[in-house]
Amino acid sequence: MNIFTKMGCRIFQQSMRLAMFLLPWNQCKKTLSGPGSISQLPKFLKDNGFKSILIVTDGFLFSSGKADPIMAACEAEGMKSCCYHDVVPNPTIQNIEEGLKMYHDNNCDAIVALGGGSAMDCAKGIGARVACPKKSVPQMKGVLKIMITGHKLPPLVAIPTTSGTGSEATLAAVISNPETHEKYAINDPFLIPRYVVMDPELTKSLPPHLTSTTGMDALTHAVEAYIGGENTKQTKKEAIEAVQLIHKYLKQAYDHGDDLEARVEMQKAAYLAGKAFT
Ligand SMILES: NC(=O)c1ccc[n+]([C@@H]2O[C@H](COP(=O)([O-])OP(=O)(O)OC[C@H]3O[C@@H](n4cnc5c(N)ncnc54)[C@H](O)[C@@H]3O)[C@@H](O)[C@H]2O)c1
Repeated sequence: MNIFTKMGCRIFQQSMRLAMFLLPWNQCKKTLSGPGSISQLPKFLKDNGFKSILIVTDGFLFSSGKADPIMAACEAEGMKSCCYHDVVPNPTIQNIEEGLKMYHDNNCDAIVALGGGSAMDCAKGIGARVACPKKSVPQMKGVLKIMITGHKLPPLVAIPTTSGTGSEATLAAVISNPETHEKYAINDPFLIPRYVVMDPELTKSLPPHLTSTTGMDALTHAVEAYIGGENTKQTKKEAIEAVQLIHKYLKQAYDHGDDLEARVEMQKAAYLAGKAFT
């Protein structure tokens, strides 16, 4: 890297450090948590005036029936619902464009992401394309490309089924492009989900190997947040709490997948780590 590129990077970093204090971090308006909290969601959506919901999930979660009760309860509350369930691990631009089409074809007014980081990031990408129809996904790569347009995403509900990426709390959507072999992040505070549902019952089915790898992802976020140059008192506190929870509960969740206490605490740890990291 030559000296001018280096200087440019440092100036950018310093301006972002200052801008950090002005950015709208408070995008999350409500968190529902605890065993069974998912059942409160349809009424909550109805009470907030939503009429047609797009659920975004992956094939495995869809075929194992995880989206069915949400769709049935939405219908019972008098809302329409449809489900985009072709999200692949490391979601692609194609996933986002297909989900976007379904959103518009069904006149949706809210998006519910059900799954791990892949489903949540795909849902964020769909929301970003709804907000910025003239910008392609690659054009949103980088920082603040959505906020700069002034257009907010439609309300996004994140329901994590892994305890790792913390995407339910972060400003990032990680997207891949199999054609160019690229994987990149769209970073924007407008991507922070407006509502989060943390129901530990949904993570009980996570097999041990995914429990451990996703748990290590959360640990990495917490450590990075703690040692990173941009931390604050608050993010350091969240990072420490996340590390303590992971230390205490990850092995327990790995050994006993149906241990609700361990699942609750790992969900909290991933959320805190994601928040601190963001
Ligand atoms: N947005 C962010 O801040 C952020 C941060 C880190 C990583 N990521 C991205 O997140 C993605 C990875 O997400 P992930 O690690 O959560 O995995 P994932 O969403 O790709 O899911 C991995 C597998 O676990 C399965 N699964 C999910 N929940 C399950 C459950 N409850 N029971 C059984 N199986 C379940 C899925 O069907 C899938 O097969 C990557 O694309 C990564 O780049 C995003």
